[in-house]
Amino acid sequence: RERFLGSVAELDAVVPVSHRVADRFAAVERAAAGRFENTPDTDPAVADNRAWVSALLARAPGTTLGQSALAAARMDSESQLDAVLKDGATAGQAWGALAGAERGRVLHRVGDVLEAHRADLIEIMVAEGGKTVDQADPEVSEAIDFAHYYAELASELDQIPGARFVPAGVTLVTPPWNFPVAIPTGSALAALAAGSAVVFKPAPVTARCGAVIAEALWEAGIPRDVLQLVDVGERELGRQLISHPMVDRVILTGAYETAELFRSFRPDLPLLAETSGKNAIIVTPSADLDAAVKDVVASAFGHAGQKCSAASLVVLVGSVASSSRFRSQLLDAVSSLVVGRPEDPTTRMGPLVETPGPKLLEGLTALGPGERWLVQPRRLDDAGTLWSPGVRDGVARGSAFHRIEYFGPILGIMTAATLDEAIELVNDVDYGLTSGLHSLDGIEIGRWLDRIEAGNLYVNRGITGAIVRRQPFGGWKKSAVGPGAKAGGPNYLLGLGTWEADGATA
Ligand code: ALA
Repeated sequence: RERFLGSVAELDAVVPVSHRVADRFAAVERAAAGRFENTPDTDPAVADNRAWVSALLARAPGTTLGQSALAAARMDSESQLDAVLKDGATAGQAWGALAGAERGRVLHRVGDVLEAHRADLIEIMVAEGGKTVDQADPEVSEAIDFAHYYAELASELDQIPGARFVPAGVTLVTPPWNFPVAIPTGSALAALAAGSAVVFKPAPVTARCGAVIAEALWEAGIPRDVLQLVDVGERELGRQLISHPMVDRVILTGAYETAELFRSFRPDLPLLAETSGKNAIIVTPSADLDAAVKDVVASAFGHAGQKCSAASLVVLVGSVASSSRFRSQLLDAVSSLVVGRPEDPTTRMGPLVETPGPKLLEGLTALGPGERWLVQPRRLDDAGTLWSPGVRDGVARGSAFHRIEYFGPILGIMTAATLDEAIELVNDVDYGLTSGLHSLDGIEIGRWLDRIEAGNLYVNRGITGAIVRRQPFGGWKKSAVGPGAKAGGPNYLLGLGTWEADGATA
């Protein structure tokens, strides 16, 4: 749901882009998109592919991928950061002066190199990020899609008569650990496509995934001073980097509180942030309940629920709420999910990346007033990262579980008499990232599409796993900070620079 002009109007508040430029850019985006195709995931029905997966899973526990690049990227002092940013500013001038088509050519090579390193990328995501292969493989496809899609947009960026695109300048990319390949790659490539140099600071717990990405980008021909990897372990140094005056733009994906923290470091921080979600799937009596159960389970428990896009609420409407069928199918499906280490090919739900903090621990263990467990989560290992999935029933409007993002394998059931009431419940949260509806009734679907407050809307499909260009990804309300353009969509690059008149026609 990104209306091109509506969204550019929002961007207009931040980026001085005229609607004439926007119209033209919409047209060139269509031309670019005509040359773009999404990359397929690995097909597990092919025997060779299964052998390939077995080999990479066997390597994963002892993998050394990324180690040396990460060691070289270690920052220990403010003067090292100064040098990185100075190099980035200088190198960015030359990179930004290249024709968009030239940058696009390099980005296409990046896509090819990422495909060639698919096994390495999955291996390090399994080893370091706790991802199962069925979660990691589509992430590589998404990263490749970002490369080819932004490559096409880059090649059109300087084709707009009368307008000149000026890149934002040194862009700091601070991605999360839950999509340690797709999100940093997409963020960095967007800034690179727009003509800026990038300083890439991976999330500390998945820093080696970051190093493997950086190596692939360098191999593809992105100069090392145009994309610099930094490993900033120490918190105070991290603050100095984020608030550094030579940082021209920050792309953050993380919790809303992290965006607030960044702003507290530097109030005028030019920030593009994709933040938290509290996402729900509504199931109406007209739904195909078998399909709904499957999509709810995949959306709630994929990567153990550690996704900003995950379903953390399901709202049952009318007879779906009052009869036992949906709940009993959900109970069966959730209880039979095989939980285990990601290296084990039989695992359907892997571990938490870190031991749960106090908030998630409460979500996994304590019930709110009137709530009861449909499926009670259990801790399965000494380390405290392996938990079985949980479902709490009877979540009340306005309760903690209705409003707070827990970011783990825990789903709450709410009920509503009507679709309208369900929509009200879903909208009655601070966030608006993803949202789902299971209904086979066209009038219900139309009503929901008109009234639901979220960036990514999915009908009769799971609510995670947005596909580049088909489902540009980003939120409303407190799920976005900054211009709010969606990643993997036509407007994203527009927020990474400004337009200047170039002659009389602009
Ligand atoms: N883009 C990711 C998803 O859609 C967060 O699940």
